[in-house]
Amino acid sequence: MSIKVIVGTQWGDEGKGKIVDLLSAEADIVARYNGGPNAGHTVVIDGQEIVLHLVPCGVLREGVVCVIGNGVVVDPLLLRHEVVMLGSLGVKVEGRLWVSERAHLILPCHVRYEQVKEHTNAGAIGTTLRGIGPAYADKMERQGLRVGEAREPAQLRAKLERLEGQKNRLLQALFGAAAVPPAAVDAYLAAVAPVVPMIADTTVLLHRALAQGKRILAEGAQGTLLDIDHGTYPYVTSSSCVSGGASTGLGVPPTAIAEVIGVTKAYTTRVGNGPLPTEFVGEEGQRLRDLGREYGATTGRPRRCGWLDLMAVRYAVRVNGVSELAVTKLDVLDSLEQIEVCTAYEIDGERTLEFPADVTALGRVKPVYVALPGWQTPLGQVRRFQDLPHNTRRYLEFMEEQTGAAVGIVSVGPGREQTIFR
Ligand code: IMP
Repeated sequence: MSIKVIVGTQWGDEGKGKIVDLLSAEADIVARYNGGPNAGHTVVIDGQEIVLHLVPCGVLREGVVCVIGNGVVVDPLLLRHEVVMLGSLGVKVEGRLWVSERAHLILPCHVRYEQVKEHTNAGAIGTTLRGIGPAYADKMERQGLRVGEAREPAQLRAKLERLEGQKNRLLQALFGAAAVPPAAVDAYLAAVAPVVPMIADTTVLLHRALAQGKRILAEGAQGTLLDIDHGTYPYVTSSSCVSGGASTGLGVPPTAIAEVIGVTKAYTTRVGNGPLPTEFVGEEGQRLRDLGREYGATTGRPRRCGWLDLMAVRYAVRVNGVSELAVTKLDVLDSLEQIEVCTAYEIDGERTLEFPADVTALGRVKPVYVALPGWQTPLGQVRRFQDLPHNTRRYLEFMEEQTGAAVGIVSVGPGREQTIFR
């Protein structure tokens, strides 16, 4: 069984793009299983930064077949944009990028509805405004449009116009907002047409690949704490980000998953609203934000920053069955004299080691910190685990002790070569 799942163990932005890119050198297929263009997976090749939102990062490796699975929601306008961007870099997707016919479409009304709701509503989630939540809501309400329906343009137009009409009436009634202009629907349908040659029953494709012993990398988007069930609800995304989502989001059996790589940033960040127990207040946050260039790859928003929260990572290791941690952006901590790490929470005066399900309890958390000495040495040129400074190894070993998962990969810079395999 040869599926390796790449999952985020925090609130997204852990650096999954780089890890997927590296591991796809030894993969036959890379398949995205959740989320949509809310993701921003960054890969740096020879100093050039490439950000992918929908297309799996494996596309940057010649010969790797890429799949956008049934668990993903697809915006054809953004997919077209990404395919054109890749073409300009000399990366061809024809015949090697397949989109599941079961994946759902993000429609113009989904984007519009979310934008109006987020701007009007006091309980805003702080979403990426890409229509993710409304698209998944229509899927669950069993009225969504699936990618496969693009094969019948006349029927697609009729269904699309009906749903757009319904959402426009809702927009008007609930928020007094203007409708999506009909021209947007025409532009949308024009973007759907080029997707048609990419449509496939990707479940069959993956089953065949498994039978042939091919190596499949399942690329997760966002992170465990943003998962619709296991994250900090309601401040989450609308899909199954956890490793189990790879099974439902690709149509492959859980027993086919051999390994789960938990990508963990050496500190914590979050974009959007919701509690973040170890968040810095004041200058410290800005310092780390600048050192780590912590600005959203999709929206450009400044990310909220804080110390490494091992309560969150420990929880994620359990929920996902992480077999190995890939620790990223360790070099961002190079200059610090002392590094704090959260190992427990205190909630209403009681100490706990269990991550709370209730978001209001999470909001009342007082983190319990352990201070570790910094290494104050640049790590960017280190290529072997044994060459890491003593205090860096201590930091990584502390993560292992606290989470129960071994560190197998360490990233010390954005470049492909700035990686240590243990
Ligand atoms: P949505 O996925 O656009 O609905 O946004 C829901 C929440 O997930 C917001 O807090 C977003 O900032 C966050 N989010 C969505 N995608 C990502 C991502 O790729 N990285 C980090 N946060 C994300």
